[in-house]
Amino acid sequence: MPSDELEWLPEPHRDALRSMYSGEPQRGSDGELHAIDSTTRISIPDGKAIYSLCTTQAVTSILEVGLGYGFSTVFLLAALDRTGHGTHTAIDPFQETDWKGMGVTRARRLASCSTALTSDAFQWIEDRSDRALVDLERAGRTYGMIFIDGYHRFDDVLVDFCLSARICHTGGFIVLHDKWMDSVKAVTSFIRHNRKDFVEVESPCDDLVVFRRRAQDRRDWRHFIDFPLR
Ligand SMILES: C[S@@+](CC[C@H](N)C(=O)[O-])C[C@H]1O[C@@H](n2cnc3c(N)ncnc32)[C@H](O)[C@@H]1O
Repeated sequence: MPSDELEWLPEPHRDALRSMYSGEPQRGSDGELHAIDSTTRISIPDGKAIYSLCTTQAVTSILEVGLGYGFSTVFLLAALDRTGHGTHTAIDPFQETDWKGMGVTRARRLASCSTALTSDAFQWIEDRSDRALVDLERAGRTYGMIFIDGYHRFDDVLVDFCLSARICHTGGFIVLHDKWMDSVKAVTSFIRHNRKDFVEVESPCDDLVVFRRRAQDRRDWRHFIDFPLR
């Protein structure tokens, strides 16, 4: 990793990400250090893009589907720190089993040492997104930015988008990661052609698709506009 790629990011988030992008072992919820793989992550440009989106739009309520090692989470917590307050909720059913709690451990540490955020600013929901997103809607929760980077099959991404759309503020954003995947391309095409309550915002990155919610979903029950898969 070129040493200046994270120069723009304040501490302690910069240090955390330097360690993570360097591939150093990370602390899990058992207190031990665990090796990490080199593929499960967002890129630094993707991280900078979601950080900038949240800071320029002063987003204070963020939801994330797919915590993993917490690369995206660190960028998003840094954005809340910069904004001065807010909450971040991450959904991941496999955080303890597949990721040894590394993402949640990192996020809790960063939230607890922040002077801007309260100790409960970070929340992890240990459940599948299809269940958790419905629970959040039932609880009346809404978000200014929702980052979708969970299970990447077409139907899972579509369900994540449709359930997230219900709890996204008007004026808020839904960001899909892994735009290169056919599954994500098909969901993106569905949204572009069928969800006129969302408008696509130009993305600064090759790997992110950004939609802004601009209205209520007022389609009637017959609505369907055919869409190309890519
Ligand atoms: C690509 S990783 C996320 C990487 C993370 N955004 C980062 O930058 O470090 C995908 C994550 O989705 C999680 N996941 C898989 N199925 C899920 C589901 N049904 N609901 C929520 N998260 C899920 C996995 O456990 C994994 O942590």
